[in-house]
Amino acid sequence: MAVLPILHYPDPQLKKLSQVVEHFDDELRQLANDMVETMYDAPGVGLAAPQVGELKRLIVIDCAGKEEPPDLLIAVNPEIQAQAGESCEEEGCLSVPGYYAAVKRFNRVVLKYQDLDGQARQREAEGLLAVAIQHEIDHLQGILFVDHLSPLKRSIFRKKYLKQQQQKVEA
Ligand code: NI
Repeated sequence: MAVLPILHYPDPQLKKLSQVVEHFDDELRQLANDMVETMYDAPGVGLAAPQVGELKRLIVIDCAGKEEPPDLLIAVNPEIQAQAGESCEEEGCLSVPGYYAAVKRFNRVVLKYQDLDGQARQREAEGLLAVAIQHEIDHLQGILFVDHLSPLKRSIFRKKYLKQQQQKVEA
């Protein structure tokens, strides 16, 4: 297993559409394992393959609290089958370090996906897990959580964030 470098906004790779996974082989397993290690190392509650430069429909999530046992979800070709309720929680993203904002999402979802063996599976989720699922699936469409902000908030974000990145480079 290996910790992979995470791409940061505004990397153009993050805007691309990920492809459906058709081969459930060792290469996929290796990528999933590396993504899990990368997520735990960051630490973060979710990671999508395009964030590590792989345009594949694969996400990993673990929203368990510090005191709770791990609750690892590895979902290949994830799709939201049903959705309900509203939520507006503060989100962050490993590809947008240091920035957090509230985003409107559904509060409950039914997720349809395949496991690493290609078996069809389903999981019902609510709250933080439901939000994480929507956030990670967005990545597969080339969408970041900041894309959900109002145009005004987004332009403020862009200025602030890019200035911050610039300062990091100069420092
Ligand atoms: Ni993210």
